Amino acid sequence: MMTQNAYKQAAAQAAIAFLPEQAVIGVGTGSTANYFIDELAKIKGRIDGAVASSVATAERLKSHGIPVYELQQVDSLPVYVDGADEINGHLQMIKGGGGALTREKIVAAVAEQFICIADHSKRVRQLGEFPLPVEVIPMARSHVARELVKLGGRPALREGFVTDNGNLILDVWGLAIAEPIKLESEINQIVGVVCNGLFARRPADVLLLGGPDGVETVR
Ligand code: 5RP
Repeated sequence: MMTQNAYKQAAAQAAIAFLPEQAVIGVGTGSTANYFIDELAKIKGRIDGAVASSVATAERLKSHGIPVYELQQVDSLPVYVDGADEINGHLQMIKGGGGALTREKIVAAVAEQFICIADHSKRVRQLGEFPLPVEVIPMARSHVARELVKLGGRPALREGFVTDNGNLILDVWGLAIAEPIKLESEINQIVGVVCNGLFARRPADVLLLGGPDGVETVR
């Protein structure tokens, strides 16, 4: 029987077919994205390089000899490939389990196409069982936590974790997210919030979902 990691790897392998030739592409963060980077290494002559969504991803890309560009160095990105913590039928996601949500959302915003790679356990009917990560400016953390409670959540500080941007993460439990776009906007309005892990206003364009029957393509 294939393991969850094998499903992640299969989805990562499938993403290679979606890459344009000789372009700079956006690359996400996490264990599924790491499988993708390892696949990318095998065909690295076919791309010009990558923009990374985290320091960890930049280091892994460089360790494979793949050129890494700053986002400012590119005018556009045809494709962004990344994993997700949860994804629903509209290809809206919760991301940020690895704490890279802000840079992931920025790179995704620039990309023309977002390809989500995931194992089948990530597909959900309704987002919110996975705690929603919210990146906050450190001095605002108590204020933001109180405001998140008013929205019905139970925020918990991610202990011992600092983001690549020098900020903190509140993981918000107990949100049954019936209206993802609305909640994404509401949380963004809280002063002190840098970014939240709902990717609903800009969902994925393609989902490659690895599972026991192979890799399913959902658009
Ligand atoms: C990191 C992310 C990841 O995409 C998400 O946490 C999924 O991770 P994994 O591929 O390890 O299951 O958003 O910030």
